[in-house]
Amino acid sequence: MSDLVLGIESSCDETAAAVVADGRRILSSVVESQAPEHAEYGGVVPEIASRSHLRRILPVIDHALDAAGVTLDGIAAIAVTNRPGLVGSLLVGISAAKALAWTRGLPLVGVHHIEAHAYAATMERDEPCLPAVALIVSGGHTALYRYESHRSLELLAETLDDAAGEAFDKVAWLLGLDYPGGPAISNLARSGNRSALDLPRFRPKNGKLGFSFSGLKTAVLYHVRGQDALAPTPSPERIEDRADVAASFEEAVVDALASQAIEAARREALDTIVVAGGVACNTRLRERMSDEAESAGLRAIFPSPAYCTDNAAMIAGLGFHLVNEGVSAGLDLDASPR
Ligand code: KG4
Ligand code: ZN
Repeated sequence: MSDLVLGIESSCDETAAAVVADGRRILSSVVESQAPEHAEYGGVVPEIASRSHLRRILPVIDHALDAAGVTLDGIAAIAVTNRPGLVGSLLVGISAAKALAWTRGLPLVGVHHIEAHAYAATMERDEPCLPAVALIVSGGHTALYRYESHRSLELLAETLDDAAGEAFDKVAWLLGLDYPGGPAISNLARSGNRSALDLPRFRPKNGKLGFSFSGLKTAVLYHVRGQDALAPTPSPERIEDRADVAASFEEAVVDALASQAIEAARREALDTIVVAGGVACNTRLRERMSDEAESAGLRAIFPSPAYCTDNAAMIAGLGFHLVNEGVSAGLDLDASPR
């Protein structure tokens, strides 16, 4: 096939389309964030998300084609996220992809969002990266995998409760910061003291790997509200040590992520750790993962920040390989939330 794939992503609150050549060369990547529409709720509201995708999807696809300097005539296949995600949101991207594939007679492929996040870390690299341990950290997902090939992610461990990004978003809300919370906490943390608060670190029992962020979140809640957790949250300007809370919280999350990823690499006897998903944008995580991996004789690799958060370039990139391997979907391609 000619090598251009149109990717479409609408699994959560970003409406995105991209054109990628050879699974690697990103000709365009358009991402429209709905964050302002969800901000007042402190998190994504599924009904608002699907309606917003519906308004945006066709202009975003047009924009991606224009920015790549191509028309649909130059596109060889269409790749769309079909799992996991918010069902109503996924369906908008899938319906658009099916309509285009059907009217143009193009191959269609459904892409797994988490596999695409992992692929994003390798698509920008010239050297071989796999096999590796993959740490996928996003708003809906925090897990470690043995990453053997772009179609093989074997789950090693995952969070028992919140995803790391979700914990960032909830603590940000508690501190009166805007959604999405990750970037807001990270900015505030720069002026804070990372060891000001003695926050709990979850350590999995019985020699297992794993994560849990609910105890950490509750500790921050008690710190901010006092011992009466049902008391109203003080207004942000009355939380005098906001920057210290942000910095100490961020450090606790990064501690957990880095130590478990390194332990997973040791157990699996792998020397590369791929870190991807929205939280992989976090500067402190990138610094500490890189330093600690190096000290342990390992290497940590990340996508550039634009391809850590949700985007369609990673969908088109992985879609290219799937189509070449003969994977294809029919017009009955469906959304799967899990
Ligand atoms: O991968 P993503 O865009 O969407 C999902 O698939 O969930 O990840 C979004 C998550 C949000 O929870 C956001 O707060 C978090 O990634 N995030 C960050 C940063 N940038 C985004 N978390 C920590 N530090 C950041 N700089
Ligand atoms: Zn994602």
